[in-house]
Amino acid sequence: MQNYLNNYNKLEKYPEIYQYAKEFNVPIIMKESLELIEMLILKEASNKKEYRILEVGCAIGYSSLHFISVCPNVFVDTIERNEEMIKVATSNFARYGFGRINLIKQDALEVELPVEASYDLIFIDAAKAQNIKFFNKFSPFLKNDGMIITDNLYFHGCMENPEEQSKNVRNMVRKIDEYNKFLSNHNDYITTFVPIGDGISISVRRGINEVNS
Ligand SMILES: C[S@@+](CC[C@H](N)C(=O)[O-])C[C@H]1O[C@@H](n2cnc3c(N)ncnc32)[C@H](O)[C@@H]1O
Repeated sequence: MQNYLNNYNKLEKYPEIYQYAKEFNVPIIMKESLELIEMLILKEASNKKEYRILEVGCAIGYSSLHFISVCPNVFVDTIERNEEMIKVATSNFARYGFGRINLIKQDALEVELPVEASYDLIFIDAAKAQNIKFFNKFSPFLKNDGMIITDNLYFHGCMENPEEQSKNVRNMVRKIDEYNKFLSNHNDYITTFVPIGDGISISVRRGINEVNS
């Protein structure tokens, strides 16, 4: 059934970047999750002069290029620490980035964002064991009406049968589960977990008008 609906989804916008990721095993966001995020960006960005995204985990720039392709008023700051990824992302941005993507070449946990920085969307897609740290570090830079999206909460299917996995994978599963608990128990954010692609969460700030249920 999933394949049937996929026939109606859009064609790949950057086929050679996608092929590169497949050939060199670069982990990139899955198509279904990407299309959902693009829809959310489109809806939100249409009502704003500028729509600003912070991405934690750029790899070769595949997701950030898709994000800016949605609307000409979308701008991305994206963070990457791996030299090889930085090289490829830089060349991809020079070709397709239209000056709307700023690559921050540093470990995300060491980045000092300017105090005035503020984002409509924060996309967390880096080292999965550090998700709580990334959330705590960058959530203060989220606009009041913004959202935080995190990818890979299924961890490639490993969350459902951790006992069959290696010790390293079991540790990672534990960390991701801790993150999911952290999100679902968070006092200041409401999160929905969406079973799409490799599993994403969408978190928004609790509003003053929220109805208690
Ligand atoms: C899943 S990939 C990102 C994929 C990309 N968002 C996409 O969908 O096209 C994760 C990337 O995060 C980078 N990364 C992991 N931990 C990081 C950290 N602490 N700081 C900066 N980059 C990090 C890795 O080097 C890797 O390239």
